[in-house]
Amino acid sequence: MNKKKLLITGGAGFIGSHVVRLFINKYPDYQIVNLDKLTYAGNLANLTDIENAPNYTFVKGDINDAEFIQKLFDEHQFDSVIHLAAESHVDRSIANPNEFVMTNIVGTLNLLNAAKLHWTDNTEGKMFYHVSTDEVYGTLGETGLFTETTSYDPRSPYSASKASSDHLVRAYFHTFNLPIVISNCSNNYGPNQFPEKLLPLVIHNIKHEKPIPVYGKGENVRDWLYVVDHAEAIDCIFHKGVNGETYNVGGNNEWRNLDLVHLLIKLTDQRLNREEGHSNKLITYVKDRAGHDLRYAIDASKIMNELNWAPTQDFEKELGGTIDWYLKNEKWLNDVTSGEYQKYYQKQYVTR
Ligand code: NAD
Ligand code: TYD
Repeated sequence: MNKKKLLITGGAGFIGSHVVRLFINKYPDYQIVNLDKLTYAGNLANLTDIENAPNYTFVKGDINDAEFIQKLFDEHQFDSVIHLAAESHVDRSIANPNEFVMTNIVGTLNLLNAAKLHWTDNTEGKMFYHVSTDEVYGTLGETGLFTETTSYDPRSPYSASKASSDHLVRAYFHTFNLPIVISNCSNNYGPNQFPEKLLPLVIHNIKHEKPIPVYGKGENVRDWLYVVDHAEAIDCIFHKGVNGETYNVGGNNEWRNLDLVHLLIKLTDQRLNREEGHSNKLITYVKDRAGHDLRYAIDASKIMNELNWAPTQDFEKELGGTIDWYLKNEKWLNDVTSGEYQKYYQKQYVTR
C-alpha cells in the first residue's frame, strides 16, 4: 500500500468529519492532515474519537490565505488532497454571497495553485479530489435525473460558487495536467450536521416544541443520502476514480420536503413517547427561499457500474439512528446553537 500524505480540507465539518474518521481508521499507513478554519460550521467535537490517532494531525487555517497554503504544502509535501472546505448553506449565500466567492472559489484556486506548484515535476500517485454538489446542475422538473453530462445551471450564489470551483478544477486538469477527480453529491443527512440545515433543524424544533419552518408549500424535492454512504463513495472515488473524471453520487431516495417533515415528526414523536401526530401543529409555512430549486435527483449509475459503489443503508433505519443521535447529543446541539447561531436564527426566521 502507498504511504500517502493526504490533506483533507474542511474535516471538522459535517461530511468532512465522517471522511476523516473513515480514512483514519481504514488507512493507518496514511499521514492525514485535517485543515479547517473552524468557522461556525467546523467543530472539533465531531472528531474526539480519533483526535489522538498517530496518523492524524489537525491544522487550524484558512484556505483563503494563499501564502499559508503554499507553506503547508512545503512542510507536509502532500501527494493527495480531498477538498471539502466550503461555505455550504444556501440561505447564508443569499444573505452574504461574498464569503462564498472567497472560500469556495478563491480558496479552491489557492489549493489548486499549491498542488500545481508542488506536483509539476512528477504527477505519479498524485490526486486532487474536489468534493462538490448536485446543485451545480440547477433544478429539475417533475421528471428526469442529473447525469455527469447535464449542463451546469447554478441558480443560488452557493451553487454558482461551487460550479465555478468545479470549472477551475477541470481547467487545471486540461491546462496543467493536474490529476483530478470531482464528485457531485445529493443532500446528505446524518449525525454532526449543523442545525441550520433542514433535518437537524426540524428534529431540534420538534424536541423543543418550536415552529417547524417549511419554505413555500413544502413541495420541493431532494434526494437524501446517508453521510457515511457519501464518505464511502469518496473513499471509493479517491482510490478507484479515473483521472479527469466526474462521478455523481446520490441515494436514489427522493422526498418532498413536507413528506419528509411528516416522517421526522412521526419518528421523533415516537422516540419522545408522544402520541402520534402530536407535533403536526408545529408545521409553519414560511416565505419561500429566493430562487428555490424545485427538485434535485441524481443518476448514480456511473459510480455504481464503474466503481462498484452503492448506497448500502436503509433510509428509515438510518434516519431513526440520526434522530436518536440528535436527541442524545443535547450538549453538542446546545454548544453549536449558542452564540452566533442565535443571531442567525432570529434574522432568518423570526423577523419574517
Ligand atoms: P459544513 O459547512 O458542515 O463544513 C464545512 C467545513 O469547512 C467546516 O468545518 C468549516 O470550518 C470549513 N471551512 C469553511 N471555510 C473554510 C476556510 N476558508 N478554510 C478552511 N476551512 C474552512 O459543510 P458540509 O455539509 O460538510 O459540506 C462539505 C463539502 O461537501 C462542501 O464542499 C459542500 O459543498 C459539499 N457537499 C455537501 C452536501 C450536503 O448535503 N451537506 C452535499 C453535496 C456536497
Ligand atoms: P437544506 O437542508 O438547506 O439543503 P439544500 O438547500 O442544500 O437542499 O434544505 C433542504 C430543503 O428544505 C430545501 O428545499 C429547503 C428546505 N428548507 C425548509 O423548508 N425549511 C428550512 O428551515 C430549511 C433550512 C430548509
